[in-house]
Amino acid sequence: MTELQCHGCGKKYRPEEIDYVCPEHAGNNRLEVLYDYEAIKNRFTKADLAVNPDTTIKRYASILPASREALESIPYHVGGTPLIKATALSKELGMDNVFVKFDASNPSASLKDRASFMVTALAKAQGRNAIAAASSGNAGCSLAAVCAAADVRAILFVPKAIPKAKLMQIAIYGAEVFVVQGSYDEAFSLCEKACEEFGWYSRNTGFNPYTREGKKTVAFEIAEQLGWNVPDWVIVPVGDGCIISGVHKGFLDLYRLGWIEKIPRIVAVQAQGASSLYESWKRGDEEPSYMEATSSVDSINVGLPGDGGFALKAIKDTDGLALLMSDEEMHQSMLEMSQKQGLMGCVAGSSAWGALKILNQKKTIKSDETVVLLNTGHGLKDIAHFENHTFTSIHTIKPDINDLKQYAA
Ligand SMILES: Cc1ncc(COP(=O)(O)O)c(C=O)c1O
Ligand SMILES: [Zn+2]
Repeated sequence: MTELQCHGCGKKYRPEEIDYVCPEHAGNNRLEVLYDYEAIKNRFTKADLAVNPDTTIKRYASILPASREALESIPYHVGGTPLIKATALSKELGMDNVFVKFDASNPSASLKDRASFMVTALAKAQGRNAIAAASSGNAGCSLAAVCAAADVRAILFVPKAIPKAKLMQIAIYGAEVFVVQGSYDEAFSLCEKACEEFGWYSRNTGFNPYTREGKKTVAFEIAEQLGWNVPDWVIVPVGDGCIISGVHKGFLDLYRLGWIEKIPRIVAVQAQGASSLYESWKRGDEEPSYMEATSSVDSINVGLPGDGGFALKAIKDTDGLALLMSDEEMHQSMLEMSQKQGLMGCVAGSSAWGALKILNQKKTIKSDETVVLLNTGHGLKDIAHFENHTFTSIHTIKPDINDLKQYAA
């Protein structure tokens, strides 16, 4: 890492000069982490990676902001998640190459482990011993998990609508958690104030520029798993916009290293009830503006996407697009991915499949193209979404073979 550059004013900062945001643009994360790509090219090659037995994101240490020692100091296994060829889903659309990047396979069961691990490694190397974050759930679970492994204090601020499974997961890891009687955006503001007041290190998405550097490793893995032949499209569920901007940054890094020849077109999927980024994209704005968020898909129910500027850039610069889906369509996507492909992603993560169906039907995505659906979290945390769903496959019977006979033919 060499510098951080502000996309608002172009000013460059050395990493030790600045903690989170450009002072001219406080409140907005417009900082991009820069590297000396020429120097990296000379000491880090695809051939090195091919013989590296480490399957975690530490294998990319040469192009990450934390030193190898800092990354090694935390005994935790992030990344190396499967890229699964979804033959049943492909077949349904008459396609050959639909893949699911199943990031639920991270230890705390979401992609957020990539960011939490990166930020915790950096904070620990600076001697910080308390890290705070606002979270709709998964980022909190992952920070709690990584901090448990790193022996660092974790403090989480979550909205009152946090699903019980995620709240329990945070508590089981032993983190302190404040259930803020308000929205995610309100929990976020309180967390920022608390970090200032108490000197805690902030892992907040859309504020700490290093979260994106953790999340970008998912793009490194996708490219490497496809033999450095990048897909035509990557479909990403969007809340704050940090995952999508991380995906973009990862491919950009590889392109700047000369390791890939093109950057995939990136699709942002938003919920109809949390559509700030979609609306800004449609208007052609450079930054999103606040819109009340009312979706039941908690992990992407964000009013003002903190990483919105970079998220919009990810869509525009790659000739991608944004689309909206209803909560019901997202639930249906989760059931279909589970039942057709055996992949129980979370509701938000599974929405990528529903989005592909829509875009394939419109012929925006052609049948001969290669598509990666980024599944960002595990469906087990989301089972409460189906409490009122009628599953005709669930039968309640007496412990009696005769009672079973009516079903078992
Ligand atoms: C499972 C899942 N998918 C997608 C997202 C959206 O990520 P981002 O807020 O970086 O856009 C989140 C964020 O909490 C998440 O937990
Ligand atoms: Zn600036």
